[in-house]
Amino acid sequence: MTPNDRIRWIAKPAVWLLCLMPLMWLGWRIANQDLTANPAEFMNRYLGDWALRMLWTALAVTPLMIVTGWKPALRFRRLLGLFAFFYVALHVASYVVADQYFDWLAIWNDIVKRTYITLGMAALLILVPLAATSTNGMVRRIGGKTWTRLHRGVYVAAICAAIHFIMMRKGFQLEPLIYAGILAALLGARLAPAWKKRARAKAEVQPAR
Ligand code: HEM
Repeated sequence: MTPNDRIRWIAKPAVWLLCLMPLMWLGWRIANQDLTANPAEFMNRYLGDWALRMLWTALAVTPLMIVTGWKPALRFRRLLGLFAFFYVALHVASYVVADQYFDWLAIWNDIVKRTYITLGMAALLILVPLAATSTNGMVRRIGGKTWTRLHRGVYVAAICAAIHFIMMRKGFQLEPLIYAGILAALLGARLAPAWKKRARAKAEVQPAR
């Protein structure tokens, strides 16, 4: 079995299974009517938590590759990103269906009046075109450079999602701050090599005094 085969036939199905497990667990709890006293809130928060975890996991792939030098990690980035989007979509769907009962006016009022919903919505709107352009065909159609530039939007979406979580919890709460800290570390790990490269290039251009 070649390393490519191992990724295709073992690692990828394992990642699929792992990513679907939170949904299967939710399905199990729904089937057993075990959704706490407030099922709509429970589902929305549960799916929101997993949306955030999946997004952070997708963002962790490149830093992992930088730190370990393990290039095959990149083969999982798109899959993890799409799963993140999938959980975001379910989180929003649970809000629209189970929380707001398709009351579009109430949803609109929420978006314009509650800043944390505005930020969640901004994150969703940024992620939609990224998910839509995730296929190889779309990369070819819009061109690698435009694609890369567009997909940098994921950092803005992640920052909006982190603030969405902090504001939603209100007051001082550790959990959203831990997520924000992890995001800062992940973004920092991406920027560090670029800064180093730029500093080195600058040092080479400027003659030593
Ligand atoms: C990238 C996009 C998003 C992510 C990652 C995300 C994630 C989260 C997280 C982690 C929570 C808190 C869960 C907890 O307390 O444990 C949350 C709460 C919430 N989110 Fe999102 N969210 C996103 C977008 C949205 C959007 C677009 C909406 C609605 C239009 C929305 C509506 C809500 C609501 C209503 C709550 C609070 C539920 C409550 O008060 O119990 N989110 N979200």
